[in-house]
Amino acid sequence: MQYGHFDDARREYVITTPRTPLPWINYLGSEAFFTLLSNTAGGYSFYKDARLRRITRYRYNASPLDGEGFRVYIRDGETVWNPGWQPVQTELDRYVCRHGLGYSVIEGAKNGVTATQEFLVSHGDDCLLMRLTLRNDSAEEKRLDVFPYIEFCLWDAMDDSSNFQRNFSTGEVEVCGAAIYHKTEYRERRDHYAVFWCDRAPDGFDTAREAFLGAYGSPARPAAVFGDGCTGSLAHGWQPVAAQQHTLTLAPGASVRLLFGLGYIENPRAEKWERPGVVNKTKAEAMMARYATHAAFDAAMEALRAHWDSLLSAYQVRSGAEKLDRMVNIWNQYQCMVTFNMSRSASYFESGMGRGMGFRDSCQDLLGFVHMIPERARERILDIAATQFPDGSAYHQYQPLTKKGNLAVGSGFNDDPLWLIAGTDAYLRETGDWSILDERVDFDNDPSLARPLLEHLRRSFDYTRTHLGPHGLPLIGRADWNDCLNLNCFSSEPGESFQTTGPSEGPVAESVFIGGMFVKYGRAWVDILRHLGQTGEAGAAETDIAAMEKAVLTAGWDGAWFRRAYDAEGRVVGGAECDEGQIFIEPQGMCVMAGIGAETGEAATALQSVEARLDTRYGIVLLQPAYTRYRLELGEISSYPPGYKENAGIFCHNNPWIVCAEAELGHGDRAFAVYRRTAPAYIEDISDVHRTEPYVYSQMIAGRDAPSFGEAKNSWLTGTAAWTFLSISQAILGVKPELDGLRIDPCIPADCKGFEITRRWRGATYHITVDNAAGVERGVAAITVDGAPVPGSLIPPAAPGKCVEVTAVMG
Ligand code: GLC
Ligand code: GLC
Repeated sequence: MQYGHFDDARREYVITTPRTPLPWINYLGSEAFFTLLSNTAGGYSFYKDARLRRITRYRYNASPLDGEGFRVYIRDGETVWNPGWQPVQTELDRYVCRHGLGYSVIEGAKNGVTATQEFLVSHGDDCLLMRLTLRNDSAEEKRLDVFPYIEFCLWDAMDDSSNFQRNFSTGEVEVCGAAIYHKTEYRERRDHYAVFWCDRAPDGFDTAREAFLGAYGSPARPAAVFGDGCTGSLAHGWQPVAAQQHTLTLAPGASVRLLFGLGYIENPRAEKWERPGVVNKTKAEAMMARYATHAAFDAAMEALRAHWDSLLSAYQVRSGAEKLDRMVNIWNQYQCMVTFNMSRSASYFESGMGRGMGFRDSCQDLLGFVHMIPERARERILDIAATQFPDGSAYHQYQPLTKKGNLAVGSGFNDDPLWLIAGTDAYLRETGDWSILDERVDFDNDPSLARPLLEHLRRSFDYTRTHLGPHGLPLIGRADWNDCLNLNCFSSEPGESFQTTGPSEGPVAESVFIGGMFVKYGRAWVDILRHLGQTGEAGAAETDIAAMEKAVLTAGWDGAWFRRAYDAEGRVVGGAECDEGQIFIEPQGMCVMAGIGAETGEAATALQSVEARLDTRYGIVLLQPAYTRYRLELGEISSYPPGYKENAGIFCHNNPWIVCAEAELGHGDRAFAVYRRTAPAYIEDISDVHRTEPYVYSQMIAGRDAPSFGEAKNSWLTGTAAWTFLSISQAILGVKPELDGLRIDPCIPADCKGFEITRRWRGATYHITVDNAAGVERGVAAITVDGAPVPGSLIPPAAPGKCVEVTAVMG
């Protein structure tokens, strides 16, 4: 069942009922001011950091769902309704929500009135713009009372939701004409305030929640809206809000447009006040003036479109397959950008108060956005690398505002260092900017320890090389990619961290997965060294890689698949001898992507085992059989009920590893079959089962052991976005940036006759036509560049600004 449809021409998802299984959200803003907005106008705004600069309040885990947002109430005689249905939930005559790239439009109609709310965060500015259009489609004159309403957050979202003894006494506002200023704590240590405004002088306002909603009122039944209107309240402590009342008369056929805004302003300390107790509004007034006209609103919308046109034009496919094109050209890349902006901080599943940026997460996210914004990828790599320790290990997380490593979590996740090679390698292949390797970057955020980035990569490689266990496989530490496989932590008390309690780093527990990573990204390291002419070091690294390959193919091989690990007692994890958790997806994906066992047959056997034992109709589960009881020696993975999360859920992130692995072996049919099974556009018609937004990937889909098999959770912020983009754009469609050129090497279903791709790469534009009249799954027989045949499948970089015509004939 569907709750809407794609509109590819406008790059929108069109939701046609407000009763989606869960709130379906969009992200507005891509620099500093962000808004999460649901299809019923729920959500919240923050500036840069969702925890420390929360602008409006949001109650997670609330009942009913999605209570706070950017709502407008319309009172038309006896009827009160919202254009997005929530929170009053008056049945609408018509409803539609269009989520586009960086903007959303919600339209509702009731009793002959159509109300359209357009939302966007102006590119390059710190404000949310909201335009409300009201049209009287009836034959009578309408007298409407319109009430916009938002609830301010007292800045630090964590403190805001816990420290009530203080916070109920600190709230302060100022009202000045059509603007409401939220200035809590501005009198003391804060130099910032928020402003809500309208381009029309209101007929009433409230800034105290109690006055607007009523002491025991709720957003579903505000006292002011259902009673005698706004009271002119000024918040002193308690909960400051911004509510207004606009009384409008609309002749039949007439319409009116109101411009609302929500802005964030910082003032220099010396210029905070206009006079004692009155905030300096100069910047706010300038902001309001910037958006005082409808032409300015339209221009902001145009600028946003131009911004997305330019980002997405880096990779565009025309395959003739509508769903594929819409994933590749629009939604997958869009999600990659949102994941870049948010990391794992703020979604409807991530509260914005929890984790900072993950070291491994950020390195992998890079794989999905480096082609769109290489300059920002460069910055990101340097920030991440600065949280590495001198021995090559790394802080597992860091705070975006301070860029400092997070001490509470610390280090010891032994896959982390190698992801830095993965991210940097992707950047080099995309840009050819070798100067990044010379950038001096701190270790442990300490400038006195700064060394060139190249040295950071060397220490990443060396860290794994020098931390091997009894079988010559890498020690796992607190965890590898699978945060929940905790082989050195034996936690038995509720509330303890599964990763950091107890010994956590031991000399015995080993990871076959990191072994695969060491081979894959170790080879990338070797290529970098060779490119730099450091052949001696490259040769030595190759020897280490060969030894690792051997260890993976012996101690890491179970007979029909790659083992997962050895636990702290040296027992096999992920082998036929185990009673549960016999086979895991991660080492099959990573080891085959690394090329391990490709020639000797283990790779193909491992992938056959995945198909036979882990495939389900909704995707590939992480392991089988699921763990049915808690196991002290395995940790968090066995804490989840069977079928959820890492315990045999369909963890979407590693499905594309199997896609890449299958492509590595030339299996185009199977690679695409795996790809499409979790690709949102292909499963739109099971939205009632899937429940999360049908235009983006979720982190997890409940596996077949779960009662809710097929139900997705944790939508939007997941490494799945980057990896699926990599799997489709590089492994399947086969346009692969390499250090010395662009490789054209598709691996596609045999019945795919061909496709065209436009790829911007290192400043030149490649228009690539792939012809598969031969009906093969892989293999390029002939390539021409601007009409001239070239040998092999690698196209040398063209001069920046050039347009290059490439044809590739498969066969
Ligand atoms: C989450 C984490 C990621 C981890 C994965 C598997 O998505 O953000 O770092 O690799 O779970 O545990
Ligand atoms: C929990 C989650 C896991 C995530 C980790 C991040 O362990 O289950 O998916 O990676 O938290 O800290």
